[in-house]
Amino acid sequence: MVAPEESLSIEEDGLIIMEAGRITDCGPYAALAPKLDKAVPVTHYPDSIISAGFIDTHVHYPQMPAIASWGQQLLPWLEQYIFPTEAKFDNSAYAEAIASAFLDELLRNGTTTAAVYCTVHAQSVDAFFRQSEKRGTRMIAGKVLMDRNAPDNLRDTAKTGYDDSTALIQRWHNKGRQLYAVTPRFAITSTPEQLEMAGDLLTRHPDVFMQTHLAENMDEMKAVSSLFPDSASYLDVYAQAGLVGARSIFGHGIYLQETDFQHCHHAGCTLAHCPTSNLFLGSGLFKLFDAVRSDRPVHVGLGTDVGAGTTLSMLGTMGEAYKVSLMAGAERLQAIQAFWLATAGAAEALKLDTKIGRIASGMEADLCILDPAATPQLAQRTAHCQTVQDMLFPLMILGDDRSVKATWVNGKTVYERP
Ligand code: GUN
Ligand code: ZN
Repeated sequence: MVAPEESLSIEEDGLIIMEAGRITDCGPYAALAPKLDKAVPVTHYPDSIISAGFIDTHVHYPQMPAIASWGQQLLPWLEQYIFPTEAKFDNSAYAEAIASAFLDELLRNGTTTAAVYCTVHAQSVDAFFRQSEKRGTRMIAGKVLMDRNAPDNLRDTAKTGYDDSTALIQRWHNKGRQLYAVTPRFAITSTPEQLEMAGDLLTRHPDVFMQTHLAENMDEMKAVSSLFPDSASYLDVYAQAGLVGARSIFGHGIYLQETDFQHCHHAGCTLAHCPTSNLFLGSGLFKLFDAVRSDRPVHVGLGTDVGAGTTLSMLGTMGEAYKVSLMAGAERLQAIQAFWLATAGAAEALKLDTKIGRIASGMEADLCILDPAATPQLAQRTAHCQTVQDMLFPLMILGDDRSVKATWVNGKTVYERP
């Protein structure tokens, strides 16, 4: 994590100039406006905060219909609610409808890029990327690999998982703004052979991402150590298969040892901190400031992890990350750090920082327009803020989808609050 003083830059009365999906110039309105061709349309957002679009580093689109399912921790929750929900995605039309609703919901929340799990069905990935392409969003997604400890209708094999993933990489990776992630669900649902073949995919396609779950729940930890008795740690299961690299995104990472943090630091991988999910499933408290310790910092992004997470709002997720920071250690998450984690920090973690995560010339034009007076509660709280920076903490504690006035993707308005 960068030092707090480097995590934010503010332009009080700014102008952002875009062309063909990119930011071509930005800075003080007074300096730039006279240079602007009169024919160029200008959209004004008075009394608003224009941020880079939010980046959600861990979320499951097929689980949206199962959000808020009662009463279980991770493993029985998967069995009881999630596997039956994901089984419906063998139907392309259904997958397309949920993918469409999910992407609209992301945009309504100001999220313009996400690392997304589809299901074991290749058609669920095609449906998702088709819908993303339609909106022009930069998305990372992949087919879930799962060849054991799952119902018959949700299992692939090491071979079919490999072949389907290869075809999907060829179809979608770097097609426009779409990016592929090899996606073994987690160590419990993949045989060592499948994990090896996932590693082989990464060797053959070194610029694709890898996403999986890691050290989320105590019962999961026990199951992994009995399935992989020869591994030094849960992370080591993935390392032995060649799955721990700079483009690897691990969801959760609550129960990691110091040696694992060191390994993550050297590999340059990312941990996705999913506070609403970790609280909802009773999984535990992620030690954010341990992970980012300055002598061996590990990249961290924020993830909503819907359907275990309880909101697609990155503002809401920042708010919960703040509360978890108070419970998990001595250091408290600052608002500017939380906004950095949800934008520039995530982009850097994902090695996409030359494309997204900041408002600067040359960057792709993905923006989210925030209204610091969106609700009566927010309005009365932010009315007496002295600076823009002072508004960020109430925004992340009280804000949600209602605080998003508009969202821009690739230089175009894709959402406007009614
Ligand atoms: N671990 C394996 N699969 C899942 C999932 O779908 N959600 C969460 N939160 N953890 C998982
Ligand atoms: Zn997850």
